[in-house]
Amino acid sequence: MKNILLTGSFVMLSSLSCFSQNNNVITVQTDQATQVIPKEIYGQFAEHLGTCIYGGLWVGPESSIANQDGYRLDVLNALKDLNIPVLRWPGGCFADEYHWMDGIGPKENRPTMINNNWGGTVEDNSFGTHEFLNLCEILECEPYISGNVGSGTVEELAKWVEYMTSNDQSPMADLRRQNGREKAWDVKYLGVGNESWGCGGNMRPEYYADLYRRYATYCRNFSGNRLFKIASGASDYDYNWTKVLMDRVGRQMDGLSLHYYTVAGWEGSKGSATDFDNDDYYWTLGKCREVEDVLKKHCDIMDEYDKNKNIALLLDEWGTWWDEAPGTVPGHLYQQNTLRDAFVASLSFDIFHKYTDRLKMANIAQIANVLQSMILTDGDKMVLTPSYYVFKMYNVHQDATHIPLDIACDTIEVRDGRKLPLISATASKDKNGKIHISMSNVDIKKDQEVVINLPGLNAKKVTGEIITAKNIDDYNSFENPNKVVLKPFDGAKVKKDQLIVKVPAHSIVTLEL
Ligand code: AHR
Repeated sequence: MKNILLTGSFVMLSSLSCFSQNNNVITVQTDQATQVIPKEIYGQFAEHLGTCIYGGLWVGPESSIANQDGYRLDVLNALKDLNIPVLRWPGGCFADEYHWMDGIGPKENRPTMINNNWGGTVEDNSFGTHEFLNLCEILECEPYISGNVGSGTVEELAKWVEYMTSNDQSPMADLRRQNGREKAWDVKYLGVGNESWGCGGNMRPEYYADLYRRYATYCRNFSGNRLFKIASGASDYDYNWTKVLMDRVGRQMDGLSLHYYTVAGWEGSKGSATDFDNDDYYWTLGKCREVEDVLKKHCDIMDEYDKNKNIALLLDEWGTWWDEAPGTVPGHLYQQNTLRDAFVASLSFDIFHKYTDRLKMANIAQIANVLQSMILTDGDKMVLTPSYYVFKMYNVHQDATHIPLDIACDTIEVRDGRKLPLISATASKDKNGKIHISMSNVDIKKDQEVVINLPGLNAKKVTGEIITAKNIDDYNSFENPNKVVLKPFDGAKVKKDQLIVKVPAHSIVTLEL
């Protein structure tokens, strides 16, 4: 174990409006609550990758695993509890090699293909457009279709849109009817390519900008359906991509995407998901928090071209990326998920909430069995990850009004000289007037007392929930599925216009006032 230097230094995350002897002071700025946190910040992503779709979401109607029309029931029920607002599909890198017509019609006639991006696995196309859009209807979430620009054609994508959304007498709408679906689906979000700078075609932003304009022209609105067209955006620190797209595409896109992974680097080992030391843990949370700087810089560039914020920024891939679990299929990106991953989720949401004047969607990668998943499956077994429980706990913030916080707390210095605040928090007011405050104490060893000033709130009662575990590397396994779960929390007390909260070491709480 490496030593960590606890600096005891004091960080002021925004203008501090109060002072206390206690180093952890949060002031809730109720008078500044104006921005709604779009529920789409809690979006999900499902790619044809490893066992995300096959085995994770879909087992087929003939499976011995309990299912509803092919969707596994245990997973379906767990996902219903998450109130998923939007689900992105079919990729990822897979999207730019996917030909949608291979995934419609009788299953026995659907051709197979090789999933070149992800382990060379044979894809039998048994999960296609109908299976995906019907799943979205069951989950009551918006579909987000990622179109093939890299190896597809404008005609192919234009016809897909017509197939999904037209209620007219038209060739594609008729084909859909022949395949058993009379009424068009509602499809709002359309991604025009994915990572077009990389697996989606290795393009220059200038070239992609023109290509986007061409594709977007022919992806039409049918039968009252209004597409929200999303241009393939930058990776992490590639600010030039955002600049060129804003300059050359502008209002022809409704949104521009961005990908940010909490990853140790793209070459060599990314580190173990479960076997890490304290230094690795703090470094990970520092790297996760760096998304704030990245978001700010992309937002600043967008502001230069679009002062009124008409074009949305969508972080449509984010989360942790570790080495694949030993013994799993190479290229399937299967990883375990510990309390450390849960912190990556909570800290990320705390940041995302602050940028929702521009940031309108975020999609965790991915929903099942891939990267920072919500759910892990193995045959008929299923387990919910610590990250799942953070999503569940933070659900209260969906579509609630964000309340800015002034946060003052100690920091810890981690490798690379980053200073990591030991407390992270966010707050919102829901439609019924209830206030929710979520807080993470990332300190491995020390409980933290936090004083929360609630000017003018007149709170009388506080209840709460907590996610924690004995160790930061604890996770839920098929043998021990309830090691890291949500539990009731009673460590908060109302005292006049303050809340005094004892947040246990390495824990995440959400309070309701
Ligand atoms: O989420 C896994 C992969 O990461 C996606 O397919 C790709 O878009 C990104 O590089």
